[in-house]
Amino acid sequence: MVPLKRRKVTHPQTPDQHGETCKFNDVAIFIIERKMGASRKSFLTQLGRSKGFRIEESYSPSVTHVVSENNTGDEVQAWITNETEEKDEKASICSLHLLDISWLTESIAAESPLQVQDRHRLKTSPKPSAHVAVKSYACQRRSPLNHHNTFLTEPLEILAENAEFMENEGRNIAFRRSASVLKALPRVVRRMEDLKNLPCLGGHSLRVIKEILEDGASQEVETTKQSEQFQAMKALTGVFGVGVKSADRWFREGLRNPSDLIRTGQKLNHTQQAGVRYYNDLNKPVTKKEAEAISDMVGKAVRAVLPGAILTLTGGFRRGKEVGHDVDFLITHPEEGAEEGMMPKVLKWLEDQGLLLYQKTTRNSYLESRDGPERAPHHMDRFERCFSIFKLEQTKECSGTTAGAAGMSEQQSGPSWRAVRVDLVVSPYSQFAYATLGWTGSKLFERDLRRWAGQERGMSLSNHALYDSKRHHYLHASSEEEIFTHLGLEYIPPSERNA
Ligand code: UTP
Ligand code: MN
Repeated sequence: MVPLKRRKVTHPQTPDQHGETCKFNDVAIFIIERKMGASRKSFLTQLGRSKGFRIEESYSPSVTHVVSENNTGDEVQAWITNETEEKDEKASICSLHLLDISWLTESIAAESPLQVQDRHRLKTSPKPSAHVAVKSYACQRRSPLNHHNTFLTEPLEILAENAEFMENEGRNIAFRRSASVLKALPRVVRRMEDLKNLPCLGGHSLRVIKEILEDGASQEVETTKQSEQFQAMKALTGVFGVGVKSADRWFREGLRNPSDLIRTGQKLNHTQQAGVRYYNDLNKPVTKKEAEAISDMVGKAVRAVLPGAILTLTGGFRRGKEVGHDVDFLITHPEEGAEEGMMPKVLKWLEDQGLLLYQKTTRNSYLESRDGPERAPHHMDRFERCFSIFKLEQTKECSGTTAGAAGMSEQQSGPSWRAVRVDLVVSPYSQFAYATLGWTGSKLFERDLRRWAGQERGMSLSNHALYDSKRHHYLHASSEEEIFTHLGLEYIPPSERNA
């Protein structure tokens, strides 16, 4: 028991001021007058103090137990919030007991503060989570590879893909943007409340999210996944060289998959023929290990034909992805112009090693005009580029052999190699930073970079250059960081461009 004298010093307003002895100093009680009335409050205060309870005159941060009659927890909370001005005081509300008057009357009857039980507590509605501010352009946000809301983003991306198949670009982008915003959130979305104030979430996306939160799945998404059209379009556009237009025409002619193309003798171009031939391999995810093996091969080729040449792995693997649909490379040389004519040599080197199953090159057609870019920057750039299919020798572990499976390992059938899609792009050194930024992706990140440049900065960004349309000049950059600075954006590293 703390001596009376000392208590007097620490708590000047302790009940002994009112002629009573305070026995329970650790429990500082405050009674809310609201709905109770002044006379009942006064009566309870006197009764409590006479039993040795510490009952405060006014509310302060030292109060530990707030009691009230006929008020809801939310009302009491609002009252306290109103009483406390400072932020740090508000923070202390979390540890405060908000109690029904029954706790005090029972305690008085017991002549000692009772341990707080659930039935004493006032019910408060769940606190709205602290809302996070998410910027509206994907290039203003950090989008890590692994995020918290796959259960929402995957269904939204199914709807985006379906819209793409229907050639409804607006809808495709709307769903992609919604998914992308959810990827930037620092935690799992549990209630619609959590989405308050977030940009880019349209009515349709919100309905889908609500359904998933409430029922665990969206009817529209499930129906889409099961639909014959979606499945056929996925299978047909899964053929390398087949776009949405051809796939849709074939679908309307009753074709459903690559074997239907062969069976019905469809006219296919060289790319599509290769696409059908290597269909299974090309639809099997490329692993990081396989990408690294290919990187070694291309690196050797590049250095052999042009000493000093630089090879950069771009695309999803540069963003840290574990698997990809292809492997993307950018090649340059520090001496401007030295890179010209190297693509055919690199391809010949690879071909001589028996590493190429297919290749198609497009020539560099980029010209920097004094009047600025000739047209709105487009997704396709004009670098010398090679769409190819590599023949990658497989080690046992890569080919999926399950060693030790009861002597089955030797029976592994199928070839000792697999086909992998590889994109090779050659860039002049002066455009290398822009090319690197453009080829690193993600697609939505790139789209928003260009939109930001145009709408917010009056500039035109492409994989080749950045043009200031107001001042009529090109902006040079030797690194990605410089480009972000030109655009007035905070630098986002590749691993956080998974928008
Ligand atoms: P990808 O289609 O290879 O995507 O384009 P990804 O992010 O590597 O993912 P995967 O391969 O499906 O795993 C890579 C980047 O190159 C750009 C795209 O915008 C994307 O950001 N790109 C692609 C161009 O700039 N021009 C093109 O002609 C093609
Ligand atoms: Mn890629």
